[in-house]
Amino acid sequence: MARRYFTTPIYYVNDRPHIGHLYTTVVTDTLARYFRQQGEDVRFLTGTDEHGQNIAKVAKKEGVAPIVVADRHAPTFRNLWKEFGISNDDFIRTTEPRHRAGVEEIIRRIDAAGDFYTAGHEGWYCANCEAFYPEKDLVLGNCPVHGFKAEWQREENVFFRLSKYGPRLLELFERGVEGKPFVFPESRLNEVRSFVESGLKDLSVSRTTISWGIPFPGRPGHVVYVWLDALVNYITALGFGSRDLSLYERYWPGIHVIGKDILRFHAVYWPAFLMSAGLPIPRQVVSHGWWLRDARKMSKSTGNVVRPDDLVAAFGVDALRWHLVSAMSFGQDANFSDEDFLAGYNADLANGLGNTLSRAVKMASDAFGGKTPAETCDDNEVRTAAIDAVAAWTSAFESYRLHDAAAAVRTLVTRIDGYIASREPWKKVKAEGVTPALHRIHYATLEGLRVAACMLAPIAPGTATEVFRRLGIARSAEDLRPPDLVWGQLPLNASLPQAPPLFPRADAKEYFASKEKSVVDETTAPEAAPSSPSQQIPSSSETKIPIDDFLKLDLRVGEVIAAEKIEKSKKLMKMTVKIGEEVRTIVGGIAATYTAEQLVGRKFVFVANLAPAKLMGVESDGMILAATLPETGEPSLLMVDPAVPSGAKVK
Ligand code: MSP
Repeated sequence: MARRYFTTPIYYVNDRPHIGHLYTTVVTDTLARYFRQQGEDVRFLTGTDEHGQNIAKVAKKEGVAPIVVADRHAPTFRNLWKEFGISNDDFIRTTEPRHRAGVEEIIRRIDAAGDFYTAGHEGWYCANCEAFYPEKDLVLGNCPVHGFKAEWQREENVFFRLSKYGPRLLELFERGVEGKPFVFPESRLNEVRSFVESGLKDLSVSRTTISWGIPFPGRPGHVVYVWLDALVNYITALGFGSRDLSLYERYWPGIHVIGKDILRFHAVYWPAFLMSAGLPIPRQVVSHGWWLRDARKMSKSTGNVVRPDDLVAAFGVDALRWHLVSAMSFGQDANFSDEDFLAGYNADLANGLGNTLSRAVKMASDAFGGKTPAETCDDNEVRTAAIDAVAAWTSAFESYRLHDAAAAVRTLVTRIDGYIASREPWKKVKAEGVTPALHRIHYATLEGLRVAACMLAPIAPGTATEVFRRLGIARSAEDLRPPDLVWGQLPLNASLPQAPPLFPRADAKEYFASKEKSVVDETTAPEAAPSSPSQQIPSSSETKIPIDDFLKLDLRVGEVIAAEKIEKSKKLMKMTVKIGEEVRTIVGGIAATYTAEQLVGRKFVFVANLAPAKLMGVESDGMILAATLPETGEPSLLMVDPAVPSGAKVK
C-alpha cells in the first residue's frame, strides 16, 4: 500500500491562530483526507513550535515563565484543529521530552560528521523571523518579511557548515525525488535554486543570548537555534531519537506543506541538516502563498489578521474550509475579505450545493413517498458530468491544484442543477404521474449529488457526511474509498429524512451589522477580557468606499478641557471637549493608556457627527481617534499641531 506522511509547519505559540495558520492546516488536512480516500496509508502531523526568542519575549512581558505561555497557546491550536475536523494523527510540542531526545540525536550525528564549529558572529537579525539577513536583503533597513527594523546582533555561536552542501542541494533541485521536483511549485524551486547558486554561508545554529531552548549538547551556555530545533519535529514525532523507530521507518521521508515565508528553512537548511546526519531527505516541500489584507501578508506582527471566530460562528466550519480551499489558487497569494467569503458562500454553498440538494431531495421525496427512487439510471448527462468531474478532481489533487478540485465539485453541482431545470420533473409528475422515467430522472440527480459529496469529502468532510445522510445513505466522509466514486451506488427505496436548508442564504448587511455590534461591544464592555490588537481592527477596513461615504464623516479638531476616568470601567475616560464654540462630553476607551492630566489642554481629532451612545451610563457625543499599536493593541492618540484652532475640519 502506498504511504504518505504529511506535515504542517509547527506554529509559534506567541499568538492565537489566524486565517493564515488555519489555511495551511486545512489544505494539509484536505490532502491527507484525499490520499486516505484513495486508499493510501497516510499519516498526518501538526504541532507547536515553543522555544525561541519570540516566546521568551512574550513571557517576559507578562512576567511569567515561557512554558506558561506555551501551555496556554498550544491547546488553543489543538482545540481549533479539533473544531475544524483536522484529522492529524499526532500533535507534537517542541517542549516534549520525545522531541528533545531526537534533537540531541541529530545534533550528535551532525557533530560526528564534523559539520559544527564555534565562531564569533554578527549581522542583521529579525527577531520575528529568528533569522539573520544579509544587508542587501533588507528593505530600507527593515526585515523583508515583517517590515520591522532589523537589529545588529553580535554573539559567539555554533555554526553549521551549510556552505559545504551547496552542490548536493543543487543536485537535489535538479533531479528531484521519485521523479517529482523537490519543491512545488516550480517558481519556488527556482527561488531556492538561485538562493543556493548565489553562494551559501555557514549557518549559526546556537544562541547564547537566550536560555529558552534545548541546551546544545556539548556546548555549555548555548541553546539550540530555534529552527534547527523546530525542523527536527518532523522526525522526532515519528520516534527518531527513541528506541521505537517503527513509525519513523514506516513513514519517513515525508511531504512538508508550508507557507512560502519559510521555504528557505525547509528546502535548504532542513535537507542540508539531514544530509549531514546521514538521514533521508523529505519527499517534497509543497509551498503555498499568503492570505493578504490590504496587500500585506496577514500576520500578528503586522496587526492585520483575521480570526476565524466570527465567520465560523455565523456560517460553520465547513463554509470556511470550503472558502479557504476554493478561493485561493494553491501556490499563489490571495486577498481575504468577508465580502468574497459571503459571495462564495452564497454562490457555491447556499444557492449551489444546498439549494440543489434541497430541491432534488424534496422532489424525489414528494414523488416516491419519502423514499429514494426504485430504479437506477446509467444513461444520462449527469453520469457523464460525474465521470468528467471525478477525473478533473483526481488530476487536480494529484498536482496540488486544490482550488481546481473544489471547482470540479462546483461544476458537477451546476450540471445537476441544469439537468433538473432541463428535465422539469415537477411538470412531468403532474402530467404523467410517477413513471419509470421519473424514477430515472431523480436517480440521476440524487446519484450525481452522492458523487459530488464524495468529491467534497476531503474539503468539507462534515458536509459530505450530512449530504449522505440526506440522501438516505449511512456513510461517513472518513470511510470513503475509490470505489465510492463509481456511478451507481445510491440505495433504492431508502428513506429520505426531512431537513432544514444545508446552508441558509447569507445576508451580507445583517452579517456586517452583527459584526460591527460585536466590535463595539468589545471595545466598550468594561470588564471584557483584554482583546488582542488584531481583534480591534474591524476586518471590513479593507473595503473600498466612495469619496461620498468618506465625506459623510465630520472629523474635527477638538480641545480637551476636562477629563476624568469613569470609575467603574478599566478603559473609559470621560472628556469635556471644546469643538469650535461647542462643548460636548465624549467618552473614549483610552484610560488604560492616558491619564486625565495627559489629555487636558491638548488637541486631538474627533468624529463630530457620530450618533450619541451611552457608555457605562455616560452619554458620549462623538469619538476620539487613535491608532492601534500593533504589538500591544494600545491606543495612540492622533495629535494635532497646537496652532490649529479647535473646530477645524479634518479631511
Ligand atoms: N514556527 C515556524 C514554523 C516552523 S516549522 C518547522 C513558523 N510558525 S508561524 O506560526 O509563524 O507560521 C506557520 C505557518 O503559518 C506559515 O508557514 C504559513 O504556512 C502559515 N501562515 C502564517 N501566516 C500566513 C498567511 N498570511 N497566509 C497563509 N499562510 C500563513 O513560521
